Amino acid sequence: MPRIALIPGDGIGTEVVPQARRVLEAVARVEGLRFEFVEWDLGAERYLRDGVTITDAEFESLEHDFDAILLGAMGDPRVPGNEHARDILLGLRFRLDLYVNFRPCVLLAPDLCPLKRVKVPVRLEIFRENTEGSYVGMGGVFKKGTPHEVAVEEDVNTRVGVERIVRAAFEFARAKGRPRVTLVDKANAMRHAGGLWRRVFAEVGDGFPELERDAQYVDAMAMELVRRPERYAVLVTSNLFGDIISDLAAELTGGLGLAPSANLHPGRYAMFEPVHGSAPDIAGKGKANPLGAVRCVALLLDHFGHAAAAERVERAVAAAIAGGRTTPDLGGSLSTESVGEWLADRVGGEIADENGTRT
Ligand code: NAD
Ligand code: IPM
Ligand code: MN
Repeated sequence: MPRIALIPGDGIGTEVVPQARRVLEAVARVEGLRFEFVEWDLGAERYLRDGVTITDAEFESLEHDFDAILLGAMGDPRVPGNEHARDILLGLRFRLDLYVNFRPCVLLAPDLCPLKRVKVPVRLEIFRENTEGSYVGMGGVFKKGTPHEVAVEEDVNTRVGVERIVRAAFEFARAKGRPRVTLVDKANAMRHAGGLWRRVFAEVGDGFPELERDAQYVDAMAMELVRRPERYAVLVTSNLFGDIISDLAAELTGGLGLAPSANLHPGRYAMFEPVHGSAPDIAGKGKANPLGAVRCVALLLDHFGHAAAAERVERAVAAAIAGGRTTPDLGGSLSTESVGEWLADRVGGEIADENGTRT
């Protein structure tokens, strides 16, 4: 039985994770699946109380005693330096070597796209490198607090690191029958890292001759995603650019509240989290959209080989949107909890679908 560590974290993370769990429990019941859950007290509250972000023993336990993590969000206005988020969230990505940050942004209904021209399906599947780049914390400050202060934030790109994420993107595109893989970089200005990514992209891509491939500078990619998002399919990019374009792609396909993500070391470990943050502006008001977290449940089910159960969750999410059973960000008037309740009933077969069938 897979053991799942639940880390609700901060802000709306504590509101959406219980709804995701509820949906997972409901779908597990009807599909005859079993999961064990353990809730972890990690986040700003604990840090402010005990002065501890996460210990080595906790990292070890999460790695060895659990099969996957479902995390809400990290970030709290009372911790303006965000050090607990760096230790916990980036700590887990780095220490568990979760090098693939898979962020699928799929348009479920044309109305959800803020671009009025877009009438066709949009499916942007981002492969964000998750263990290197400018997130590694290498660098430092010199002459701090003086007019001559120097701040250096190194951008680390290794051959091994670039190759494994590029390969993961191509393999995914082949396995899922996607037409194209696009490299997103800034090789015109950042030529050392850019050169490495372009060479590796060409070499790895040669092994996938049936797939179209192209490269876009990240500034042009931002423009292209607004101009004709339907042209793109699988995107592969560095840690920082992936962070930025995934918020853009999420907004193009229904907003941050709808976007899930998986942090993966394929074959070894997985951590699921919605793309959104802790949203202090709406935290505690019951307004947070739980669908991004619920779609993480679909990714989790897929990860454990339960494609039919994952599909059931995705269908329920689409039905909630089609029926207007949503939070205010999607135009509905339900609370976080009511959306979760409806979804749990739907996947559990207590609400019939549009054909009158209880699935
Ligand atoms: P955010 O994603 O928390 O919020 C951005 C905007 O989107 C806000 O207006 C918010 O209300 C809205 N929003 C986000 N999720 C929503 C949801 N589920 N339903 C409805 N509306 C939603 O980004 P931010 O404001 O830049 O960051 C807030 C904090 O979260 C910061 O501390 C940041 O570092 C942290 N953060 C954490 C993660 C993570 O843990 N994975 C991701 C992004 C940001
Ligand atoms: C995300 C977040 C994190 C990131 C922050 C909170 C460090 O924005 O998961 O997208 O930049 O990776
Ligand atoms: Mn982000």
